[in-house]
Amino acid sequence: MIRIAAVGDVHVDKDVLGRFRPALEQLPERADALLVAGDLTRHGTVEEARCFATEFGGLGVPVVCVLGNHDHQSDQQARVTDVLTDSGITVLEGDTTVLELHGHRLGIAGVKGFGGGFAGACASNFGEREMKDFVGTTEVIAQRLQDALLSIQVDALVALTHYAPVPDTLLGEPLEIYPFLGCYQLGRAIDAAPTALALHGHAHHGSERGRTPGGVPVRNVAHPVIKQAYNVYQLLSDEVDLELVAT
Ligand SMILES: [Fe+2]
Repeated sequence: MIRIAAVGDVHVDKDVLGRFRPALEQLPERADALLVAGDLTRHGTVEEARCFATEFGGLGVPVVCVLGNHDHQSDQQARVTDVLTDSGITVLEGDTTVLELHGHRLGIAGVKGFGGGFAGACASNFGEREMKDFVGTTEVIAQRLQDALLSIQVDALVALTHYAPVPDTLLGEPLEIYPFLGCYQLGRAIDAAPTALALHGHAHHGSERGRTPGGVPVRNVAHPVIKQAYNVYQLLSDEVDLELVAT
């Protein structure tokens, strides 16, 4: 069995420093790795990235992240990624990492993702150039996730995104903003591979638990949803959810 801790939307800046650290210090006793589902910072500045690295770095377990839309706000995402990588944190965008844990291979494929909406209420690749660019971006990113998921042979495969792959975990958000919170193409990519678990954030007012059309468990780990420093999920186990108070 593998246990992974996960959280998203921690929005670290200098005012948040120290808030997560006490629970994170206990992580090695509770989980084998930490996955962070984007919106690591408030405005995507290099200074905030350093704050995130201080708070989430050097934990004694591997830390694997994707960026979120907030991490793009200052157009510094490449430098943000460099700061995190230099601190030993893995940042995925259309690629994978494989961790050897207890003799098992855990594969994580990650992309930020993008919006677009879900069946019956989604943007379509038609009409104005701007609309085709929007939906084209969604489709390219989802394809990158699918390619990444299918590129590795592992014992347990996890999809890590910021945007949601299903509407289930948006329950609680206004319906009007669903197309800006996720897209069905991410769910289709997850279902095209033998994915064991999909983790995302972004929907602060959504719900924790959902499932793709193909039956893959989806968990919205946005900090305002899980209301603790991280949740812990089990892989290679009959039950994905583990009741555990982290803070
Ligand atoms: Fe977000």
